[in-house]
Amino acid sequence: MKTETEQFVQEMADIAITCFMQNQRVTFWGYCPEVLIHLARSGLLPRMPFQVVDDRTACQGKPVFTANVESPDQIPSFRPDAVIILDPARAMQIYETAVEQYGIKPTKVFAPKEMWRQEDHCDDPLYLDCLRSIPSSIRGGLSIPRVAVHLFQALVYVVKHPIDGEVLNLGIYQGWSMYFICSLLKKLGNDSRAVLGFDSFAGMLGDHERDCFCEHQIALGKTGRNFFKDTSLALCREHLRDFGHVTIIDGNICDTIQAVKGRKVALALFDMDDYSATRAALPEVYAHLAPGGVILHDHFTFDTLCEGACVGQRLAMREFLADHPMFHLHGTNVFLKI
Ligand SMILES: C[S@@+](CC[C@H](N)C(=O)[O-])C[C@H]1O[C@@H](n2cnc3c(N)ncnc32)[C@H](O)[C@@H]1O
Repeated sequence: MKTETEQFVQEMADIAITCFMQNQRVTFWGYCPEVLIHLARSGLLPRMPFQVVDDRTACQGKPVFTANVESPDQIPSFRPDAVIILDPARAMQIYETAVEQYGIKPTKVFAPKEMWRQEDHCDDPLYLDCLRSIPSSIRGGLSIPRVAVHLFQALVYVVKHPIDGEVLNLGIYQGWSMYFICSLLKKLGNDSRAVLGFDSFAGMLGDHERDCFCEHQIALGKTGRNFFKDTSLALCREHLRDFGHVTIIDGNICDTIQAVKGRKVALALFDMDDYSATRAALPEVYAHLAPGGVILHDHFTFDTLCEGACVGQRLAMREFLADHPMFHLHGTNVFLKI
């Protein structure tokens, strides 16, 4: 069992190795001898362009391999591709300074995963309002409340930034997440933004050996193969009748995802639970995703795998990430296009 410090050292070293493999210039913010010694011992530090900065004057000037700890004022002249925060206690403050004061892109700042830990609830009245607006007759929803919080935060980010493009909902069922998206865009005064939903309305198709959803649920004795069949295009249209700019595309996404061609995507919520649907849609969505745009999975972290049932979705994303590096907000299901 690793100690907390060992886990932290490993996590941050993994991020540094990823940056190194992409030939990135790295600024380490925070004097943390454990991580730096680990990287020096692995032979990485001597081979990568790096600097170490710390805003605490007591740390400045301390030797680090062939360099000394500098003031963050030296960041602009170093021109880093990535900033790795090595001071977990002050991670959020450092993140904000790096972005706001030194103009580092948010997607280029790597923080310890604790910083991104999300609560299952959110007190923002807009979020609560949005949840309450969904009629109770609409069945379905997202795996755990935290994903709805992520969806809320990601939509607010896309609107405020602003990231140009449409919002996609891949996997509609009866329209719960579609309703949430449309309702929030309306409340944010952004209801002219197009929302595009995809579903077969035929339930889980599961025709690939890695399509794990139904098999798991049946093995658990939950039910037969009747998942998500109690819906239809007409029912969803009825549920979403109050919103303009909504298009629903009916059919197997492995074919219908072509509809994304010629469009620009700001955010895509993936909630089809299975491997083949997710694997087929990812490349097309990614190709049309705006820089800084968001891919949000309902099922990626272990606590959102629904007793292992949606592991196919996770497998598809992991496979996709191997040749499409995206910025992953650690511990979440949120990925940003770099
Ligand atoms: C978990 S439900 C979606 C729940 C929805 N996001 C909500 O908020 O209630 C999964 C949906 O994905 C759809 N789906 C699964 N595989 C599909 C495929 N290959 N093509 C189109 N839709 C698919 C199913 O029909 C089902 O409605």
